[in-house]
Amino acid sequence: MKILLLGKNGQVGWELQRSLAALGNLTALDRHSTAYCGNLADLDGIQDTVRRLRPDIIVNAAAHTAVDRAESEPELAHTLNALAPGVLAIEAAKLDAWLVHYSTDYVFDGSGSQPWQESDAPAPLSVYGSSKLAGEQRIQATNARHLIFRTSWVYAARGGNFAKTMLRLAKERDTLTVIDDQFGAPTGAELLADVTALALRSALSAPSLAGIYHLAAAGETTWHGYAQTVLAQAQQAGIALKAGPEAVAAVPATDFPTIAQRPYNSRLDTHKLQAAFGLTLPHWQDGVARMLNETLTP
Ligand SMILES: NC(=O)c1ccc[n+]([C@@H]2O[C@H](COP(=O)([O-])OP(=O)(O)OC[C@H]3O[C@@H](n4cnc5c(N)ncnc54)[C@H](OP(=O)(O)O)[C@@H]3O)[C@@H](O)[C@H]2O)c1
Repeated sequence: MKILLLGKNGQVGWELQRSLAALGNLTALDRHSTAYCGNLADLDGIQDTVRRLRPDIIVNAAAHTAVDRAESEPELAHTLNALAPGVLAIEAAKLDAWLVHYSTDYVFDGSGSQPWQESDAPAPLSVYGSSKLAGEQRIQATNARHLIFRTSWVYAARGGNFAKTMLRLAKERDTLTVIDDQFGAPTGAELLADVTALALRSALSAPSLAGIYHLAAAGETTWHGYAQTVLAQAQQAGIALKAGPEAVAAVPATDFPTIAQRPYNSRLDTHKLQAAFGLTLPHWQDGVARMLNETLTP
């Protein structure tokens, strides 16, 4: 089984290098790779990569993920998030290969308080959300066997993340102010990578499982609740903080204006995925606790 992974050094891509390794012979690329082109901005290049490698599975973890910057570079966002997945899907269809791709709750407008289902009508608020939706649609318009996982609030132990930022600020300041009117479930890159490998294993022998799925950790919180959980756990681990969980002030998102509009409701209904693949998605606090353990251990 030959597997091509694009975006190997992103949050999810890094974890996929681990979880996909047991499924077959993995070629993992980033935009700087030389033996094969892994730059999604080079559409001919990635087409050539697929044609030369002839993978059985393509996993695309690369994307234009800078949500605010996308507002001022819509063409680049469209190329990376819509045109490139479309090229991968056309090439996958020719090879009868599987294409795995990631999308986002930003395809929705964030209204209401119910978890979004796969069948709900998308209405993106931002260039990033529109470009990711266009990527989904380009894949779906081909005959490629695909798994599209829409996820939200992704974090990883490697590199910077919201939890680490909160810990740093809580050591420096007496109080923190954090948004409490946007809802979602922090979802670990580890979980996304593990579920991808498990879902692929099932899908390889049951092609009818192809489709779009919502994939996020169980439960829900706000950025404020997330921050409080992080600081409480740090204190339990004996980390000295100037600001404990009680010193996190709750503010509305309007107090932190951003270039791109973010959805208020990022809740994703994951019943379809859990039923289709026989999986149980763990609570978001389990993954965050594990990531903090790794981060806090000297
Ligand atoms: N992060 C989230 O909260 C979130 C939420 C919902 C959905 N998603 C989706 O989940 C997927 C994985 O996201 P992530 O969190 O792992 O994002 P990430 O950490 O930002 O990784 C994205 C990767 O794409 C690479 N990339 C950017 N431009 C490229 C290009 N021209 N050619 C090749 N690679 C390029 C980046 O490389 P460089 O490091 O070199 O720039 C980076 O390694 C994406 O599809 C994203 O839309 C993410």
